[in-house]
This record gives sequence, C-alpha cells and structure tokens, in this order.
Amino acid sequence: MALYSEKVMDHFRNPRNVGVIEDANGIGEVGNAKCGDIMKMYLKIEDDVVQDVKFETFGCGSAIASSSMATEMIKGKPLSEVKQLTNKAVAEALDGLPDYKMHCSVLAEEAIHSALEDYQKRTGRKI
Ligand code: FES
Repeated sequence: MALYSEKVMDHFRNPRNVGVIEDANGIGEVGNAKCGDIMKMYLKIEDDVVQDVKFETFGCGSAIASSSMATEMIKGKPLSEVKQLTNKAVAEALDGLPDYKMHCSVLAEEAIHSALEDYQKRTGRKI
C-alpha cells in the first residue's frame, strides 16, 4: 500500500486556497516546535459564515495537504460547524495519514481554532 493516499498527494501537489486574504477578520498562526513547521490561516467571516479562507503553510507535504483539505471543508460553512472541525475529520477526508503524520493534521485544526479566537477578539462576538 502506498504510504500516502491519492487525496493527500493531490492536495499536496495542487493545494486549494493558498494565499493571503488582505481584509481577513480572523487570522491564526500556529507551529509545531518539534518539526518547526508553521501554518497560517486567514478567514473572512460574514453573517456567521466563512465566506473565504486562505492559508500559508511552511511545512511538510502532509501539513500542506491537511491545510488545503481543511480550507475546503470550512469554506461556505457556518461558524457553528467550523468550530467543530477536528484533525481526525481532516485526516479522514484525506483518506488517512500515517500515524506519525497525524500531528500535521493537528496543525490545521489548531490554525482554524486560533483564527476563530482572533475573530472573536476583534469583533467581540461569541461563537
Ligand atoms: Fe511538521 Fe508535518 S512534519 S507538520
């Protein structure tokens, strides 16, 4: 069996939603101290819905694939759903990650949660 699923390879080679949102109202940046990888997530939230999302990931292939898949999973979704996103769901949507690469998907969950916190701080709104 191949180490990485087709979906992981696809999102690694053609990552969706890469870039910066200049007028984002929720920005989260997280890193993993062990591997040194960094992920930054930009959210544009309107009417309690993630209207747009972009990311920048300085990291391994699994981290890039995880961030790409995570952005696809939250785009156009209400915040009540977005805040429930787990790294497990991201890894499942990618048809799995090797055990020792699961922490890469954790970065995606953390980056989104950190961006949601930032949004709450900026707007004073409670999700
Ligand atoms: Fe660091 Fe994948 S090895 S996020």
